Amino acid sequence: MKAELYIGLMSGTSMDGIDAVLARFGGPAGELIGHSSMPWPREIKGRLRALTLPGDDEIERLGPLDIEVADAFAETIHALLRQTGIRANQVRAVGSHGQTVRHRPNSTPPFTLQIGDPNRIAELTGIDVVADFRRRDIAAGGQGAPLVPAYHAVAFSHPSEQRFILNIGGIANITRLPGGGPDRVSGYDTGPGNTLLNHWAGEWLGTPYDADGAWAATGKINEELLEKMLEEPYFTQPAPKSTGPEQFSPGWLERHLDAFSLPPQEVQATLTALTAESIARAIAGEKADPCRVVACGGGVFNRELMRQLRRRLAPNPVDTTADHGMDPSRVEAMAFAWLARQTLLGLPGNLPAVTGASHPVVLGGIYPSARQRLV
Ligand SMILES: Nc1ncnc2c1ncn2[C@@H]1O[C@H](COP(=O)(O)OP(=O)(O)O)[C@@H](O)[C@H]1O
Ligand SMILES: [Mg+2]
Repeated sequence: MKAELYIGLMSGTSMDGIDAVLARFGGPAGELIGHSSMPWPREIKGRLRALTLPGDDEIERLGPLDIEVADAFAETIHALLRQTGIRANQVRAVGSHGQTVRHRPNSTPPFTLQIGDPNRIAELTGIDVVADFRRRDIAAGGQGAPLVPAYHAVAFSHPSEQRFILNIGGIANITRLPGGGPDRVSGYDTGPGNTLLNHWAGEWLGTPYDADGAWAATGKINEELLEKMLEEPYFTQPAPKSTGPEQFSPGWLERHLDAFSLPPQEVQATLTALTAESIARAIAGEKADPCRVVACGGGVFNRELMRQLRRRLAPNPVDTTADHGMDPSRVEAMAFAWLARQTLLGLPGNLPAVTGASHPVVLGGIYPSARQRLV
């Protein structure tokens, strides 16, 4: 098989920025050969965040943002091409996740919306774009999320060891990989990852996140608040399930905090415990011991969170994907490069056992570029 280059483009619910990877696929898993990241300009981030909650004039606000987000995606792709010395016509396609502004898999009818106009990305980069992956899974009766488990299975399965791939983005999700092959893979969103931690750090420190979890480490976990928050029905709801920052929102946190009067660092410590404990309970609920947990996503850089996770998951080991050959910050973008390739090969990208879709389906729409490719 001739090796092909794909670009994966991811911007998750943390809204920290855009991650782009260049991946070479000579075999199914692909190899990471370059990456580029760009933080969201503060102004765009504010408008994106505002759009994640219902408000006035949504279409008027969404229309231009859809284009500006695409422009930022294209800029990130151009930076990646410059850094890697690869020309646009050498790249088979871009897999663009888009920026989620609303994810309502349980409303009637369910819907999900990612923006960053793929037409514009194709026009500006001269590369074919595959985008809008989630809506096809929803149309097939699924949650539209998580979509990364199929890639996790290809990239991180072990022949005999049972593994959980844990992605700690704004929301956290797990993929269960029973040893021995890609069958019987399951997974779902466990609940908040960094989203509430970032919100609280923003309120009190004025920073986008609690760097290394250092502030949380100065606070005491309030067990009563932790237990109250863990009563949220989402945590015990059976899979398939997915969630977003609309559910685990600043308003959700405020409602819980009403009954408490705590120093802010205790709240941060307790929110860190909420992420760790909800993940640990989800994994324990799978009754899969012994297992290895392999973590990725920006949450792995939060030392306090990782310390709490290790304590709560012991004696099962908690690694990061860096221990298995992949930078934890690149895994999701790699998954979208892989998903784009699946689409162009006419292969499904969803796992019905994960999303609840009625069948496996080829995901996304294809937006051809105007330029000729090198073949
Ligand atoms: N050094 C760090 N200390 C604590 N948290 C970090 C650090 N680096 C990244 N993060 C967290 O990771 C998040 C980004 O993770 P990412 O995987 O990109 O999430 P998403 O997919 O939602 O965009 C940041 O918003 C922040 O919460
Ligand atoms: Mg991110």
